[in-house]
Amino acid sequence: MASTTLELNGLNFNLTEEHMAVRDAARDFAQNELLPGVIERDSQAKFPTEQVRRMGELGFLGMMVSPDYGGGGMDTVSYVIAMEEISRVDASSSVIMSVNNSLVCWGLEMFGTEAQKQNYLTRLATGEVIGAFCLSEPEAGSDATSQHTTATDQGDHYLLNGTKNWITNGGSAAVYLVMAQTDAEKRHRGINCLIVEKDQPGFVVGKKEDKLGIRASDTHSLMFTDVKVPKENRIGDDGFGFKFAMSTLNGGRIGIAAQALGIAAGAYELALAYAQERKSFGKKIFEHQAIQFKLAEMATKIEAARLLVYKAARLKDEHKDYVQAAAMAKLFASDVAMWATTEAVQIHGGYGYVKEFHVERMMRDAKITQIYEGTSEIQKLVIARELVK
Ligand code: CAA
Repeated sequence: MASTTLELNGLNFNLTEEHMAVRDAARDFAQNELLPGVIERDSQAKFPTEQVRRMGELGFLGMMVSPDYGGGGMDTVSYVIAMEEISRVDASSSVIMSVNNSLVCWGLEMFGTEAQKQNYLTRLATGEVIGAFCLSEPEAGSDATSQHTTATDQGDHYLLNGTKNWITNGGSAAVYLVMAQTDAEKRHRGINCLIVEKDQPGFVVGKKEDKLGIRASDTHSLMFTDVKVPKENRIGDDGFGFKFAMSTLNGGRIGIAAQALGIAAGAYELALAYAQERKSFGKKIFEHQAIQFKLAEMATKIEAARLLVYKAARLKDEHKDYVQAAAMAKLFASDVAMWATTEAVQIHGGYGYVKEFHVERMMRDAKITQIYEGTSEIQKLVIARELVK
């Protein structure tokens, strides 16, 4: 089967043997351990407990974390390569991986204290526990500065009150990074990020959302009533919480762009294979130009998305400004994912509309990539602001 994976050596992407080894390991894991049961996990909305445990064992949950804290010490390019491969097969598992890597581990390593890293990061990076990133609220999705959850300063601790919505890993996490307003007068500069553990009194995990796609991941609302959080669990200085969330999301968006790329590439490969098997009007449907044109356009847009994803990852690795590149990668790759999966269903015809052929799941999974970690509209806003910076 033709692969859409670019051998990017020679195009100044300098992919190393290590990158290729990551790709092979992620591909093997996806084919051998994620593919079996992926349809059942989706239809039953069953969290992939065993598969997540294996991701931890294989080092996919703390890829970029320093080995000093139990991580793989890899670069962002390795991470997007693994995200693409895993997302080709199972986007539910890849969002669990993405949140743990880029929203939780990265933020903790970058901005946490040594004690926070020792207490939390080591366990998160190895997959002993997984984490959740809690920014969205019933009335604060795109308008993220509008936080209603409060963290009231009580001297040596905060009292946390409020509700978070649509939290990935909401039920399965043990460690939560929770954004909350301490000083409303300071608006977004009065927001703090607190590390909250699941067993803290007053913390209740709400109902699991019944979703259109990524159904095997668990998405919950969370309720906090007078949860006592010690001051040493605040990340960064007083009022750093919103900056923390935005900085973390810049990198998170590269992960979701890679997820979208993987979903698109997975659907494309299934459609290409099907087009070479299925016959109509006396020939393989691939021999009909109508189908060839679809596949040609899919392959082209997927390559373009991959280049944007790799560019953003490379900029981050080179410590250059990647805010706009990450937003462009997510905007473009998520649109490609939605479009390419819809075309893959079309190429499969009636078979594409039933569960056993995978592409209908991929089409449902693709939709969220245009919504979470900043909607496509928010990505355009980020890109536009950077144009005139
Ligand atoms: N990087 C770093 N800092 C940023 C930033 C960025 N991309 N965007 C904004 N900021 C900073 C600004 O510099 C500003 O700080 P200062 O005042 O100290 O300079 C502060 O944040 C507020 O910015 P704005 O004044 O521009 O605020 P705004 O309200 O006009 O716009 C926004 C903010 C960009 C729209 C922001 O609210 C946003 O990104 N919204 C989308 C939220 C989002 O992505 N949510 C995802 C939830 S998590 C998730 O989805 C995980 C999952 O399930 C998988």
